Amino acid sequence: MKLSHSSASLFLFVAPAWALPAPQSGASGVVDPPGPSGASGSLRGPESLLGNNPSIPIPTEPSTVIPPDQFELAPGQTEDEQLGLYINLTEVKNPQPIRGGSTGPTDPGPRTEAYDRLNSDLFIPPGTDEGDVSNAKWPFGLSHNRHGLAGAGWARQQNIDQLPIATAMAGVNMRLSPNAYRELHWHKAGEWALMLNGSVRIAAINEEGQSFVDDVTAGDVWFFPAGVPHSIQAFENGCEFLLVFDDGAFSEDETFLVSELFERNPESVVAKNFRTSLWIFPGTPAPANIEEQNVTGPAGTLPKQESYSYHLSQQEPYRVPGGTLKVIDPATFPIAKTFSAALITVEPGAMREIHWHTTSDEWTYFLQGSARLTVYQAPASSRTFDFTAGDVGYVPVPNAHYLENTGSEPLVFLEVLQASTYSDISVNQWLGLTPKQITKDHLNVDDQFLDTLPKTKPFIVPGNPNMTTTNFTGNPL
Ligand SMILES: *[C@@H]1O[C@H](CO)[C@@H](O)[C@H](O)[C@H]1NC(C)=O
Ligand SMILES: *[C@@H]1O[C@H](CO)[C@@H](O)[C@H](O)[C@H]1NC(C)=O
Ligand SMILES: *[C@@H]1O[C@H](CO)[C@@H](O)[C@H](O)[C@H]1NC(C)=O
Ligand SMILES: *[C@@H]1O[C@H](CO)[C@@H](O)[C@H](O)[C@H]1NC(C)=O
Ligand SMILES: *[C@@H]1O[C@H](CO)[C@@H](O)[C@H](O)[C@H]1NC(C)=O
Repeated sequence: MKLSHSSASLFLFVAPAWALPAPQSGASGVVDPPGPSGASGSLRGPESLLGNNPSIPIPTEPSTVIPPDQFELAPGQTEDEQLGLYINLTEVKNPQPIRGGSTGPTDPGPRTEAYDRLNSDLFIPPGTDEGDVSNAKWPFGLSHNRHGLAGAGWARQQNIDQLPIATAMAGVNMRLSPNAYRELHWHKAGEWALMLNGSVRIAAINEEGQSFVDDVTAGDVWFFPAGVPHSIQAFENGCEFLLVFDDGAFSEDETFLVSELFERNPESVVAKNFRTSLWIFPGTPAPANIEEQNVTGPAGTLPKQESYSYHLSQQEPYRVPGGTLKVIDPATFPIAKTFSAALITVEPGAMREIHWHTTSDEWTYFLQGSARLTVYQAPASSRTFDFTAGDVGYVPVPNAHYLENTGSEPLVFLEVLQASTYSDISVNQWLGLTPKQITKDHLNVDDQFLDTLPKTKPFIVPGNPNMTTTNFTGNPL
């Protein structure tokens, strides 16, 4: 149900009184248990405090309105709220949820300002945000971090427990210390990965007994189909990587581990009893020469077309005004049949254009910089979220969204789809290929606007890195 403007304001003006000292007038009938020495008073208040009692005085209190000299407004806060300028609260004193003027509803607390500064579009939404849109953001920094043995690494995950809307994909952010292993394992879900830092040796075999071993480095991708057993070992400099699973309910804690396989079978069946499950544990350095770990059976090695890795770090980016894209999908990485992804760089001020996907939800990971996106969802709902490095975003199919670089460094993010081809619908191209008269009748736009619409997909649109100017397309740099 939607609150009307007036009932919403009414709700906000009901002052909480829970922190005020309550007048006491005798104990209630409940007997307190004996307290420690030095205790005084009683645990519960008197019955006379029950409400609907005109004899209880309302204490006089100071105004809860924060006067203008006790806070600062960030550039852009006074602009028309329909413009929805990005509000950078990084350095303003005592930030307040004001848009479209210099006064408005202040926030006397309780609050943790750091959240407000990081999420200014939730705290001070653009005037165009409306209705209910499910939460689209999860920072890995709020996930429980599970540590491996003896400082060997850690992993933290995001699945439907953290982000209920994210039903099609889940993510894990994992760190392996120098030479550490992610134990030999397999799982129900397919595992797509992007190396974030350092390098690792990965090894696996398939049902045919064909083996695979490869070294991958920051920017490279791997994929292990559901059920294919694999191992991951960091080299001497350690590593960090991102895993994306094709099941929103996937949990890293539910992987099938080789050590448990032995533990959970009768000892008479498994001659050798392994200790406890290892998960992430220290290892001996991998030999530099990969040939030494190339174990090949009679079935030979995995055919090239079925390779479990792709050296995306060496793919030349596709350059467009405002940024670059690297697309990887089954057209070039066939084993990952349902994973289509784009690693995208957006220059300051530029924006991944307004688009949507037709067949898949989008799971997004932010590698660098800061961004905001608005999810537009029919009917009549939209909400804007802010992101920084290490955050996960999720946009259900076919909701429209953009990703705008709100910072001063290049924005780098990964879009992952469950689709056999990376594709999207570009609003620019859609309108550019719609007969002009139709667009004009719908949007009441002039010919000059129509002439700017492209017939090809821009993917990224350049813009003014000054987030508080209203000359959005200008580029003062
Ligand atoms: C990798 O880690 C090193 C050491 O902390 C850091 O300096 C570097 O910026 C990281 N690289 C990336 C791509 O994050
Ligand atoms: C592993 O050995 C096989 C058979 O000799 C060879 O075809 C393959 O290229 C080797 N792989 C690596 C990563 O060295
Ligand atoms: C906000 O402003 C700070 C400096 O005050 C700047 O470093 C940062 O890049 C800006 N953008 C974001 C999203 O924080
Ligand atoms: C950004 O634009 C605003 C409004 O035009 C202007 O006041 C401000 O000085 C500009 N900031 C920078 C860093 O150019
Ligand atoms: C916006 O900025 C561009 C590039 O600096 C400039 O050419 C243009 O005149 C500006 N437009 C307005 C309305 O100021």
